[in-house]
Amino acid sequence: MTTAIYPGSFDPVTYGHLDVVGRAADVFERVVVALLVNPKKSPLWPMDERMACLREAVDAALGPAAVRVEIVAFDGLTVEAARSVDARFVVRGLRAVSDFETEMQMAHTNRKLAPEVDTIFFMTALEHAYLSSSLVREIAMLGGDVSGMVPPAVVARLSPSRGVG
Ligand code: PNS
Repeated sequence: MTTAIYPGSFDPVTYGHLDVVGRAADVFERVVVALLVNPKKSPLWPMDERMACLREAVDAALGPAAVRVEIVAFDGLTVEAARSVDARFVVRGLRAVSDFETEMQMAHTNRKLAPEVDTIFFMTALEHAYLSSSLVREIAMLGGDVSGMVPPAVVARLSPSRGVG
């Protein structure tokens, strides 16, 4: 079975991320979406909520193919997370040329650390190319409408009654 791991912060997951998950699921039999536990950052929600949100969003976006997508949390190195789930491929999305330099550096570094793990890039669909989680967080915090940028699972959790947005 070909397994790919898609690591990221997903804080929060956007339609751009979901586009990449869906396209990875077209190519790989098993896709593991791996949420980074980053002690240096304070995320929007606790880890269990972020995982539940991702699960809901992936199920809604992918339909039946979602059974081949797993959600896990990880800390430490991406390549170790890849090894722990038997993934030979790391999936990342590229939105614009500005992403390229950082992504190339990460891909080369990961390959140095784990030559058996290769990185595959998907060009994020053009309609999502402008999207970023940090912009979504800023817009939501300032009361803007992010419903065209993130799935309903995120919008529901960003509502003012939940204390964010
Ligand atoms: O969604 P993001 O924030 O762009 O994801 C970045 C991520 C999680 C892929 C990157 O920070 C990462 O791989 N972190 C784990 C630590 C690691 O493996 N560092 C060396 C990679 S070059």
